[in-house]
Amino acid sequence: MTRPVIYQCQNLTQTYNQRTVLQIDFLEIYAGEILALIGPSGAGKTTFLRQLNFLEAPSAGQLRFHNQQVNGSWPPLEIRRQVTTVFQTPVLLNRSVADNLAYGLTLRQIPRSTITARVAKALDQVGLTGLGHVSARTLSGGEAQRVALARALVLHPEVLLLDEPTANLDPYNVKLIEAIITDLNQTNCTTIILITHNIFQAKRLAHRVGLLLDSRLVEVTDVETFFHAPSDARTAAFVQGDVVY
Ligand SMILES: Nc1ncnc2c1ncn2[C@@H]1O[C@H](COP(=O)(O)OP(=O)(O)OP(=O)(O)O)[C@@H](O)[C@H]1O
Ligand SMILES: [Mg+2]
Repeated sequence: MTRPVIYQCQNLTQTYNQRTVLQIDFLEIYAGEILALIGPSGAGKTTFLRQLNFLEAPSAGQLRFHNQQVNGSWPPLEIRRQVTTVFQTPVLLNRSVADNLAYGLTLRQIPRSTITARVAKALDQVGLTGLGHVSARTLSGGEAQRVALARALVLHPEVLLLDEPTANLDPYNVKLIEAIITDLNQTNCTTIILITHNIFQAKRLAHRVGLLLDSRLVEVTDVETFFHAPSDARTAAFVQGDVVY
């Protein structure tokens, strides 16, 4: 069975001040999968996510979304709206939690009554029912992170890009967020690209896992192979917790 390809990257390169920080020779991301990306700090993970969110035009190479070339930094609005990102350090509006969630829906001119219902559901999903009226600036780090996730999932995106979504959370909330990720994928077929430093989280959630090392994808494979029979020695070492550079 051939799986529908949602992103195709070919020689995708990002260079800053003549330094290449991302070089992806070839990668296809399939519709409806959870792809986890792991790798040491500075490997290029967030840079790659910025490419997938069309925030930055690649220095060279090709990025296709639904078989349409999107190398420009601002593809059409209807394409950009299919992809939502929860950034590593989310910035919330200095307004109520509910306003933060409603903002993106208002921009999409969704009726007020629908917005209210979707905001309530998203708050419930992340376990923050009752905090809708609270100022987003007064939230704890973990609460703010959950609001950032709720703000993304309230938009019902086709693709959700998550940059370390559980980095500051306690075990209870990690479990809650992981359940949401799995449910979004299974119920809505949301394609999810998850950056995580937690290899166990990658193992729990992902269908495929990729290791990014020093700007390059060392290996991308199904989760079983990745953890039990990787083809690259650096993947095996990384999985075992060795320092790999
Ligand atoms: N706008 C920029 N200008 C110059 N260098 C940049 C820019 N953005 C990223 N870099 C560099 O690119 C490299 C990759 O950064 P990136 O943020 O993608 O790493 P990462 O894998 O997400 O790391 P971490 O796990 O720490 O978040 C780093 O060396 C970073 O300093
Ligand atoms: Mg990063």
